[in-house]
This record gives sequence, C-alpha cells and structure tokens, in this order.
Amino acid sequence: MPAQIINGKKISEEIKQEVKKQAEALYKETGIVPGLAFILVGDNPASKVYVTMKGKACEELGFYSITLKLPAETTEEELLQKIQNLNSDPKIHGILVQLPLPSHINEQKILQAIDPIKDVDGFHPVNVGKLVIGLETYLPCTPAGIQELLKRSGINPSGKHVVVLGRSNIVGKPIANILLQKKEWANATVTICHTGTKDISYFTKQADILIVAMGKPEFVKGDMIKPGAVVIDVGVNRVDDPSSEKGYKLVGDVHFESAYEVASAITPVPGGVGPMTIAMLMKNTLQAAINQIAVKQLSN
Ligand code: GUN
Repeated sequence: MPAQIINGKKISEEIKQEVKKQAEALYKETGIVPGLAFILVGDNPASKVYVTMKGKACEELGFYSITLKLPAETTEEELLQKIQNLNSDPKIHGILVQLPLPSHINEQKILQAIDPIKDVDGFHPVNVGKLVIGLETYLPCTPAGIQELLKRSGINPSGKHVVVLGRSNIVGKPIANILLQKKEWANATVTICHTGTKDISYFTKQADILIVAMGKPEFVKGDMIKPGAVVIDVGVNRVDDPSSEKGYKLVGDVHFESAYEVASAITPVPGGVGPMTIAMLMKNTLQAAINQIAVKQLSN
C-alpha cells in the first residue's frame, strides 16, 4: 500500500491560526504585539526567499517585524552592534540571524550575542544546553516542526527506533535530542548517521522513523527503507529542470517516488517540513513575547 502523505502545509496553517488567536488574546490583555527582527547578511538566494516567507508569516499573524538587510562585506563588529541594539529594543521579542553567514563572520560569536530570551531559533548555547538536559526552552524551529508533524499525524516516536541522517546544529543534533527525551511524543531510541558513518543503508533499514537532513538530493532510495517506516524529508535542493519555467525544481534528500512505495507515511518536498519551520518560529516568537512580559512584571 502506498504511503500516507503528511501534509505539512495544512498542519502549519492550523498552527499559525492557533498562534494568531493566542497573539490576539495577548494583545487584548497586555497591549503587546509580538515583534521579530530578521537579519540577512549578503545575497544567498535561498536565504532571501526564507526571510521573505518568514516576514510574510509575521504579517499574516499580525506580528511586528523588521528585516535588516546587510551587505556581504558587513564586519563581525557591525553585526554584533546591530544585535546589541535589537537586544535592548522593547518592541523586538525575537531575533533571527539567517544562516549561513559569510565565511569571514564567526557564526558562534554572533549566535552567542543574542539575548537567550530573544533567541527564537534556539541556537544560543544556553538554550541548546537546556534542550539537552530536558528543560523548557525555545526548540529550534525545524526539529520542533518535525516533532509537531509526527504528533498531529498520530505517529508516536515512543519506543521506536528513530534514525537521523545528518548531524547539523540546525536539524540533526537538535531533533535527536528532542526525540530521545523522556517526554511525551519523544522517548525514542535514536541513532545519528553522518559523513563518517560506514554503510548508511545498514542503519536506514532499521529505522521505524527515518529523518533525513543531509543536503544531498534524492540520496535515500526506496530500497534503503524498511517497509512501513515513516520518512521525514528535511532536504530542500534545487536541481536543474529545463521543463520548468524557472529552470530548476525542488527535491528533497529522499527519492520520493521509490520511497512512497515502501513507507507507511512520508513528507513531500515542498509542502512537508518546510512550512512547519515557519509555523514553529511564530510559536516561539509568541512565547518569547510572553516570557519578556513576565520578566518585566517581575522587575516592576
Ligand atoms: N538556515 C537554515 N535553517 C535556518 C533556521 O532554522 N534558522 C536560521 N536562522 N537560519 C537557518
């Protein structure tokens, strides 16, 4: 039987509507509108698209947002200064520095300059540490979106073998840490594969839930998947397609047609994990506003 297609677009719309309602209630109660600042350095075309989409989601939900578009030659000091300004701006509750940054900028130094209470990406070491030890914090948006997709599709990772392909700080490491927590909609046995792994198929064939975030177009084929497994494809790759108007098409890290025949459920690309990242960013930004209101009340 072919797989159930997990509709991330639809689920993300539901979440955004929920967040919108909660934000309206917050405004009625406090007069505060959640505010999010984007920083985009240089002209990476994919990053531009992502920041535009995130800005549109803010508009849709009635959030305040600003985008600082900085040239590729921006220095580390200039960027740090911008972050300091946003850290002390009361209208801004979340700060998102779109990655990757140009190579002359030390990414960790920049991420560590963001006030952890405004770190809606969950990339500051304080928030990463909280995630690892199971404390409440802002979860990185893509992994949080994956967990939410599983939850809203009724797929419980508890007791399952989750195999993650990729060990990035943005997806692989955080999703592994989220799903291994002794918590609801987690509690999985987790294996992480990476560029140092020998015989990746050996591991993928054992996965009840296979999460692929390696950035290699259509790497995972149907014959690498255990029949009935759930496949979550995080990859977004542009490949040449002369038959399309743009000259390219988007494919995931999974070869969809062959995987679809073997899996019990699968996320498409586009329309799977991608829209969930944005929905979870909105959720984190609302939470950041709530957290900052609470801190202000305590200090009054
Ligand atoms: N680049 C790719 N994914 C992300 C993300 O979730 N957040 C940021 N800031 N940059 C990214």
